[in-house]
Amino acid sequence: MNHFLDINKTSPADLRQILDTAQAMKTARHGRPKGTPDDDQPLKGHMVALIFEKPSTRTRVSFDVGVRQLGGETMVLSGADLQLGHGETIADTARVLSRYVDLIMIRTFEEQTLLDMAEHATVPVINGLTNRSHPCQIMADVMTYEEHRGPIAGKKVVWSGDGNNVCASFIHAAGQLGFDLTFTGPETLDPEMGFVQEARAKGSNIVIERDPAKAVNGADLVVTDTWVSMHDPQSARERRHNQLRGYQVNDALMAQAKGDSLFMHCLPAHRDDEATSSVMDGPHSVIWDEAENRLHAQKAIMRWCLGA
Ligand code: CP
Ligand code: NVA
Repeated sequence: MNHFLDINKTSPADLRQILDTAQAMKTARHGRPKGTPDDDQPLKGHMVALIFEKPSTRTRVSFDVGVRQLGGETMVLSGADLQLGHGETIADTARVLSRYVDLIMIRTFEEQTLLDMAEHATVPVINGLTNRSHPCQIMADVMTYEEHRGPIAGKKVVWSGDGNNVCASFIHAAGQLGFDLTFTGPETLDPEMGFVQEARAKGSNIVIERDPAKAVNGADLVVTDTWVSMHDPQSARERRHNQLRGYQVNDALMAQAKGDSLFMHCLPAHRDDEATSSVMDGPHSVIWDEAENRLHAQKAIMRWCLGA
C-alpha cells in the first residue's frame, strides 16, 4: 500500500518520481482555467475523503481542486462532524471509510492518529499535517526550489525560527534528497534530534547555529514558519514571541544569504512577526509559487498512492 505518511518513509526514487510528475502536470496545464479537467483523468470514478481536525485554507482547497482536475470527487469532512469526535476509534473509522472511498487525506493533531488510520485503512492514506510533520508542504517547497534554481541536491537551506512540524519535514527531505540544512533558533525550540541524526546518517550536513546572521551565510534558500503552531497552547504565545524575535527573517538577514537566495514560508504568515512584509513581498520571495505548487505536488502524490 502506497501511504504517503512522511518524506523520510518514502524512498528517494519515489520522491523524485512524484516531483517529476508534478512538474510535468503543471507544465501541461499552463494557461488553462483552474476548473478545467486535465487531459488524462486518472482519478475518474474515484472518491477521496479529506478529513480536517484543524483549520486549513491551502491544503483543503488544493486537494479538492486537485482531485477534481484529475477527474475524481471529494468529500470534505471535519473531525467534529465525524463520530471520530465522539468516541469512535480511528481504527474503526479507517475500516469503514475504506469501504466507501478510494483514498484518505487526514490533517490531525497526534501523529498516532495518522498511523492508526494508515494501519487499519485498506486504501492509501496521505498526511495532510500532524503536530510532528507536514510532508505535502515540503514536496511543494522542493518542487518550487527546483523550478526556480534547478536541483536542490547539494544546496544549503536555512530554517530560522521554531523547529516545528514543517521544519521536521524539511529535515526529512534533506536526508532523502541530499541537501544541507542549518537550523537557527533558540535551544528550547530545536527540531527533534532523532530527525537530525537520521538525516546526518544519510549524509546530509545538518547544522544547529544559534546566531541567525552566521546561519544564513551562503544560504541558497531561507525558510521560516509561524512562531505559534495550531497545536501550541495560546498561553505560550508571548514567551515564544520573546524567544523568536531575534530570528525574524527581515531584509538585513536576507542580505547575509547568497544574492540569488530564495525565501519560502508555507503560510499562513503573521506578517512582520516571523518574516517582514518587505521579505514576503520582496525579490527573493517565491511564496505564491510555493502555495500554487501544493496543488501540483499533491496531484502527483495522489497518483503515486493510487498507482494511477
Ligand atoms: N501551508 C498550509 O498547509 O496551509 P493551510 O493550513 O492553509 O492548509
Ligand atoms: N506549523 C504550522 C503550519 C501550518 C501550515 C502549524 O502546524 O500550525
